[in-house]
Amino acid sequence: MSLPKVRPDLRALEGYHSPQVSVDIRLNTNEAPGSPPAGFAEAVAQAARDTQWHRYPDRAATKLRTGIAQFHTAGGHNIDASQVFCANGSNEVLQTILLTYAGPGGTTLTFEPTYALHTHIARMVGANPVVAERGEDFALDLPVALAAIAEHKPAVTFLCSPNNPTGMVDSLETTKAVLDAVTDIGGLLVVDEAYGQFAPSTALDLLGEDVPMVVSRTYSKTWAMAGARLGYLVGPSEVVSELEKVVLPYHLDALKQAAGSAALNFLDDMDRRVSMITEQRGRVEAGLAELGATVWPSGANFVLFRPADGDGERVWQGLLDQSILIRNTSSWDRLDGCLRVTIGTPDENTAFLEAMKGL
Ligand SMILES: Cc1ncc(COP(=O)(O)O)c(C=O)c1O
Repeated sequence: MSLPKVRPDLRALEGYHSPQVSVDIRLNTNEAPGSPPAGFAEAVAQAARDTQWHRYPDRAATKLRTGIAQFHTAGGHNIDASQVFCANGSNEVLQTILLTYAGPGGTTLTFEPTYALHTHIARMVGANPVVAERGEDFALDLPVALAAIAEHKPAVTFLCSPNNPTGMVDSLETTKAVLDAVTDIGGLLVVDEAYGQFAPSTALDLLGEDVPMVVSRTYSKTWAMAGARLGYLVGPSEVVSELEKVVLPYHLDALKQAAGSAALNFLDDMDRRVSMITEQRGRVEAGLAELGATVWPSGANFVLFRPADGDGERVWQGLLDQSILIRNTSSWDRLDGCLRVTIGTPDENTAFLEAMKGL
């Protein structure tokens, strides 16, 4: 007796792992450093009491999508609920896009180093992920990007801004140039803005009903709700309708929908959190630079750096020995010796910088 083998194209695939280790200070997965306010927990508790648990949830997530559309409209982008697609984390948003627009044999294009899940999910759906390289400084190399789009004619092209793991933000001019090239070949541009609210610019400025671009966002970072697994995209309503056909029915549970709507009532809290984190980011960048580290300028809630002696592995282990966990990127392609640290509370950042001094 033996168990069946998985699809041949998945046999060599390794799962996506980010260690979940029990430590005092966790700065490895770019979560918010604290929970949303007590009022939010109260609102979710009330929603749990009000939920009709024996009924399927609102399949169209109308209230949540309307709330998200209003949030963006108030922020200066005129968005309708029909232009919002919600899912279980932005990873599920990305998966649904790839199932709908790439699928088996469809080509996807990423600019590396970038968020590993873009190619990982592409492989899971049987697509053909093609990779082009970023420049020496990890900024998008526009001529390389445009040539790759013209050559491979990808069904789906990914930008990630701010880019994980480098923290770099693409300028609107760069995004527009990529968008024009994607439009020319009849593809779809996905701008992953999981960290968008920490950055000075957003591709939301380029959205339009006849523009082949979607912008994905998440509740996991700015909204301090990684535990809820909620993400969304904003894009042409026609694209949203196509995604709705592919995603599993009732995939968004009732309580998650309520939690996502409740969060939108705590905007001030979110704004304060973003200000605190961007201020602390400056402090961490400066502290690391003082220690002689190479620091990449970040528009996100994390910082990529290479310690002065270039020995990321030693420094990562030294921090872990002091119960501080950061992301060990030192063996990732092109990130030799590099580490990525999430911005934590002021106290956590102090502990991190003190430990770095010792190391
Ligand atoms: C660039 C990027 N996109 C998407 C995600 C996934 O976020 P979510 O928690 O919404 O699935 C992450 C998570 O770290 C990320 O870094």
